[in-house]
Amino acid sequence: ETGMFTYDEGYTSTASCESKITYIDGAAGKLMYRGYDISYMAKEKSFLDTAYLLLNGELPTKEESKEFRIEMNKRAFVHEGIRKLYDSFPDRAHPMAILSAGVSALSTIYFNHLEINTPEEYREMANRIVAKVPTLAAMSYRYSNGMPIIYPDLDKTFTENFLYMMRAYPHKHVDLKPIEVKALDTIFTLHADHEQNASTTAVRNLASTMAHPYAAISAGIGALWGRSHGGANESVIRQLEMIGTVDKVDEFIARAKDKNDPFRLMGFGHRVYKNFDPRATILKDIRDKLMDELGISSELVAVANKIEHIALNDEYFVSRGLYPNIDFYSGLILRALKIPKEMFAVIFVIGRTPGWIAQWSELRQQKTIKIARPRQLYTGKTERTPN
Ligand code: SDX
Repeated sequence: ETGMFTYDEGYTSTASCESKITYIDGAAGKLMYRGYDISYMAKEKSFLDTAYLLLNGELPTKEESKEFRIEMNKRAFVHEGIRKLYDSFPDRAHPMAILSAGVSALSTIYFNHLEINTPEEYREMANRIVAKVPTLAAMSYRYSNGMPIIYPDLDKTFTENFLYMMRAYPHKHVDLKPIEVKALDTIFTLHADHEQNASTTAVRNLASTMAHPYAAISAGIGALWGRSHGGANESVIRQLEMIGTVDKVDEFIARAKDKNDPFRLMGFGHRVYKNFDPRATILKDIRDKLMDELGISSELVAVANKIEHIALNDEYFVSRGLYPNIDFYSGLILRALKIPKEMFAVIFVIGRTPGWIAQWSELRQQKTIKIARPRQLYTGKTERTPN
């Protein structure tokens, strides 16, 4: 019935490509940004240092770090016209839908700056998008909950500002504990880039068609939203809430192993890491510290701990290399930071934006740019004529 057509080998596509940005060794559980191991970056550096490294190829000097922080604060404000766009969305609209629209809308404001060719144009575009995404993100949350927006505070650091814009109330000072700010800053750092994952493939594909960066980042947001990808952290919490109590865990573990049951254990498994996700290792420590420091112990944490214990010892998961991934722990930390679960994928976007821009820029600075054009293996009907 269906003929197997061969297709010309040697097609080129950005689906798999060379890059100088991020190195992953899935078997060894290793991840490096521009040659620096993420355990060093998470412990010793800030997210802004990480963004600077990904975008410029080198860590910033003290002076460069100070200038970059000032630049981020200056560019954090968005055109007031964005508020009219946000006003048009219904209450309870998902923040990822609002954010992808907001980033795309930036291209209507910077319509004179869509062609990016010189190093100065790259730098200005990169700084503009990295600085504005947290503001657009916090605005998307406030709008979807009918709350007044909070403008960036020029005296706050990048991550403090985001938490402030998210949670502040005009009449009440918001106490941001240093451990909370450092936990979120580390989550941003650990999400900053991850080589050729699904959403980065979307971003690179748009770069290959010569689409401008605002369209590419908006497409990356759409790809990341899927629950198999960046939407997994929100799904982890929804799943833990659905399981509800420790005595129900075994039933759901059995369902996760049952081939006839589409149920998947959210936050477990990875396309590349068949060993521990090195980002998960770092976040596991932060989660444990945060739980102690903030005195959080809940049935949800008990359910998560039981799932983690079973999965780390059960033959089905161990034989398939299904270890907890970054989303299993980031979901629990974000919940401890009282960030609503519909904002979890948005947090992922804020972290991944410098990586996406670095990847878009790297492709666009290639001497020759081949448009992404993966082929399909045709398995449909052989040629036929109506009888
Ligand atoms: C991210 O690519 C990236 O780098 C992504 C990311 C990034 O930083 O950009 O790291 C971020 O997306 C992390 C992944 C978040 N997603 C989830 O946590 C969703 C739950 N995970 C699964 O959907 C799944 O593990 C994937 C999508 C992550 C990977 O899917 P694969 O590649 O199809 O899994 P696999 O080939 O390794 O599966 C091997 C076996 C299969 O069973 P068998 O056919 O061998 O019997 O493991 C099973 C799968 O059915 N399996 C699971 C499972 N994940 C895989 N069984 C139960 N629960 C799961 N979560």
